[in-house]
Amino acid sequence: MPRYRQIAEGIGNAITAGQLKAGERLPPQRHLADALGVTVGTITRAYNEAQQRGWVQSRVGSGTYVHGDETSGSDFTLLTHESADGDNPSGMIDMSLSFAPYHSWRHDSLREALQSICHDPAAIAMASSYQADIGNLAHRQALGAWLEHLGFPTSGSLVVTQGGQHGLDLCLRTLTRPGELVAADALTYPGFNAAVRHAYLKPVGIPLDTEGMDVDALARLCQRQVPRLVYVTPDQNNPTSISMSEERREQLTALARQHDFWLLEDHVQYLPREDRGTSLLELAPERTLHVFSTSKVLSGGLRTGTLQVPDRVSQRIASSLRAETWMAPPLMVEATCRWITSPNADELIAWQTSEQQYRQQRAFERLARYHPQGQLRGSNVWLPLPEGRRSSEVHALLDSAGVRVSTPEPFCTGSEPAPQAIRLCVGAPRTREQLDRALDIILEVLESGDTSPWNTL
Ligand SMILES: Cc1ncc(COP(=O)(O)O)c(C=O)c1O
Repeated sequence: MPRYRQIAEGIGNAITAGQLKAGERLPPQRHLADALGVTVGTITRAYNEAQQRGWVQSRVGSGTYVHGDETSGSDFTLLTHESADGDNPSGMIDMSLSFAPYHSWRHDSLREALQSICHDPAAIAMASSYQADIGNLAHRQALGAWLEHLGFPTSGSLVVTQGGQHGLDLCLRTLTRPGELVAADALTYPGFNAAVRHAYLKPVGIPLDTEGMDVDALARLCQRQVPRLVYVTPDQNNPTSISMSEERREQLTALARQHDFWLLEDHVQYLPREDRGTSLLELAPERTLHVFSTSKVLSGGLRTGTLQVPDRVSQRIASSLRAETWMAPPLMVEATCRWITSPNADELIAWQTSEQQYRQQRAFERLARYHPQGQLRGSNVWLPLPEGRRSSEVHALLDSAGVRVSTPEPFCTGSEPAPQAIRLCVGAPRTREQLDRALDIILEVLESGDTSPWNTL
């Protein structure tokens, strides 16, 4: 048997024997070549052979990995609590979930919207029957007017979705084919990464700096391979809270035109108009798909969102939507539309925005010496850890002290390495007192130094 095939067989046997685990990275080709005393070309052929047999997969620019269950999403879960809005009976203060601050108005407003539907026979008739796939005209008009009211641009066709995640998934499934390359910030929203895996796409992470996505790095990638689509959260990256500078937005849209890729813009993590830059939808309406949702401003349970798409793809998006779910449930969309056309929505959003500002400031004051990052009225605080501390260790210590935070791993795009940092959602604790308690515990853990046992040589 030729040498390369022997090596490929060896890889296959090691996988069967459990010595190589799903997702594990194979050694760089040069290292293995040196170790086995063969040429790099032999290893390249061996890896290609192993790939053809479906044992491993090579990822652009990052190496060769043992095939795992590409669709598994264990890093993208929503740990829900028995009671709503982050009121957690276990006593754990959960700052890992991106929730708007609690207020009983949320329940009152939903009740009011549902009650008004109950008393309206025409609305009940509408809600009990099938509607147009992209949403009925009245709903689309109400949602479009609301987007304008919140200061978002409107362009192309508006599609009613079952939330932001659905909008992202629809775009990926409609505009890409399995195996194609999609790019995003090196750290990005885990739900996007999960949707990428489910669509069997190849993700590539683009470095981020203080001005957002490094568009020069993206341009260099385009010289080698043009991604089909680039995903961005220009006003508050999740998890780092970085917003893109105006210059980067211009650069990105110019690059998209030059290389003809789609831009997927996500505004689900809401910031008020004054805190946002120019939307990519405004800069490049012909190639931008814009995702928004009621989840962070009204309620995650409504499962209602909007997707704005260029007219030339609206039919394709509509047919994907039909294939997935026919339409967003008209009852939920009707409840949303009643809520957003009442003064309740503005009141809740205004209160939440000022509460988030209070909470951000509080976290910034308390954690100042650790240089937290966040937006003035944003939902998350990103905390790079001091030299020598690891996210997994800090996460475990906090967990046992009753505070749950997010580690960076699930936010990593493709096989980008994870920095040592944690993300805190300031809106998630039920009360300001809980937030203070959590901040005390975080300070205590950070000041305590590394106390993790080491049990390996
Ligand atoms: C950036 C971003 N996009 C999309 C979503 C998903 O939104 P939805 O809950 O409406 O599906 C989230 C949820 O946290 C998010 O943070």
